[in-house]
This record gives sequence, C-alpha cells and structure tokens, in this order.
Amino acid sequence: MKRIGVLTSGGDSPGMNAAIRSVTRYAVYKGIEVMGIYRGFEGLINGDFGKLTHRSVSNIINRGGTILKSARCKEFMTEEGQAKARESLEKFQVEGLVVIGGNGSYRGAHAFGNKFSFPCVCVPGTIDNDIGGTDATIGADTAVNTALSAIDKIRDTATSLERIFIVEVMGRESGFIAMQVGLSGGAEDVVVPEMNYDLEKMCEDIKNGHQRGKISWIIIVAEGGAKSGKIAKEITERTGFETRVTVLGHIQRGGSPTAFDRILATRLGAAAVDLLIEGQADKAVGIKANKINIVDLNVAIQKKIEAEIELYKLIRILT
Ligand code: F6P
Repeated sequence: MKRIGVLTSGGDSPGMNAAIRSVTRYAVYKGIEVMGIYRGFEGLINGDFGKLTHRSVSNIINRGGTILKSARCKEFMTEEGQAKARESLEKFQVEGLVVIGGNGSYRGAHAFGNKFSFPCVCVPGTIDNDIGGTDATIGADTAVNTALSAIDKIRDTATSLERIFIVEVMGRESGFIAMQVGLSGGAEDVVVPEMNYDLEKMCEDIKNGHQRGKISWIIIVAEGGAKSGKIAKEITERTGFETRVTVLGHIQRGGSPTAFDRILATRLGAAAVDLLIEGQADKAVGIKANKINIVDLNVAIQKKIEAEIELYKLIRILT
C-alpha cells in the first residue's frame, strides 16, 4: 500500500485531531503517503483531497474539532454518491481508507467497502460511546468531563435557591454521557433513551425527600431520553416545586481532549494504519481491557444498546 486516505465524519468529537495526527505520522513512518479528505464522505464524493505530511499535523494533538472538517452526508447513501466516491479514490490513487466517526460513518464505510471491495478501517470517534467492540470511543471522556464541570456549577445555584434542575446532556440514542455524569455528579435521577422512566415515582421521591429536609435536585436527561421541558413542567405541576431546565448542548462536543482521549486516539490511529498495511478490510479498531481490539465492521455497527443498569442502580441507592 503506497497511499491511504483519512477522513472524519458525522458529529465531531474531541480527539479526532489526535487520531488524524497519529494516522498521518504513523503511516509516513511506515513509508506510506496520506491524503486528508475534507468534510467526510462529502469530500470523498467531491474529490476534496489534500496531502497530509508529518508537518501538516503539527500542533493539533491538543485541539478539539477536526482539521479535516466533518459532515453528515446523505448523498453517500446513494449509489451515485458511492460511485463518485470510488472515482475520487481512483483519481487520487488512494488504496485504503481510515474513517474516523460514529455509527453512521461506520455504516457508510461498511456499505462502500463491500460494494467496491475497497479496504476501509474505522476508528471510533464519537462522544456517545455507542460503538460495538470497544470499551471507549474517542471524545466520550472529554465530553463527560465537560458536562460534569457544568453540572458542578449548576449544583451551586441549585443548592442556594433550593431548586430542582433538569440538565439535558447529549445523546439522541445513547444514555452514556447521562449515566456517567449522573454518577460522577451525584445526580438524583437519570433519564436515558435505553430505559423507561417513571415520572410518578420521581415526583413521589421528590416529595418524600423534601419532607426529610432535602432541598435541591439534579435530574440528568439524555437528549433522546424524554423532553426535558416536559419533565420539568410535570414535576412543578405534581410537586409544586420550582424547576429550571439547562440544556448543555454542543459545548459537550468541543474543547481540548483529555489525556485519555488523546492516548486512545493515538493508539487507535496507528492500529488502523497497521490493519491497512496487513491488507485487512471492513474492520474496526477499538480498545478492550486496555488492549487493541479488532472487530468486523458489521459487529461494531451493532450499537451498544444496554444502558448501564449497574450505574443506574448505584445512582439511585446513593441519592
Ligand atoms: O455526535 C453525536 C451527537 O453529539 C449526539 O450525542 C447528538 O444527539 C447528535 O450528535 C447531535 O447532532 P447534530 O450536531 O447534528 O445536531
């Protein structure tokens, strides 16, 4: 293999740059040229390629976002889009592709790679930590820490004014961030898409807690778990207590990656290049018990759907 391509796709995540740096420098070290592909699959379709060198990925290991930009590209799901992408790869003589992204990007790479027998290796870059075959995805640790630091601040004002706060975190289809910050932020309850929630019980708990002298609550709601505004309204109506809603939103996707995410990104980027050199295709790299773990893409795209029930139980016991 003489030349590979690398792209970032879907929602960005802190640590994607560290992965791009690792892919580039590791490949160059192995004597392989690297083409950066801009705006994910969109750039693949439009032939938006540019050479990456050891020097061009300097000073990015600490930066959030992605220097290659990203996009959610519907056209890549069409036959025409995929055919154009294949032409671009031929034009730029790219023989293998590293795709850094989440579930949707994995699906795209799986479909494309199989259709054209083109070697694609995926690296998990998403704050949602919902990819199979890996304990962690790049950016999830940073996102959890970002959300946690906001929740700590909210706790100050929630306690001072004796209020109930509903804090919405990211995760349209994943309760990972919610569960992690629920436990580490000492939240009273967590609502996630993977589990049903019982509003009546929640309100009973609030009323009982209040009788015992409990003065404030923090309830974490994952974006896809329920409508945070609706929960707040219902709680006020049923308990009579004042509620406030804070939506943390896209701040969770930005910021300088934690050491954990940089190390993960660096290890997985190099592992992806090794796989392409070995002539592997349709694979995903991940980490299991701190060891590099390789799975087929169709295994990795089976989302981790089980909510972290153990964590939830602990959150509720410790409330
Ligand atoms: O990248 C994952 C994610 O941040 C989810 O947690 C969230 O539901 C979604 O992306 C939001 O996507 P967008 O930025 O396209 O609105």
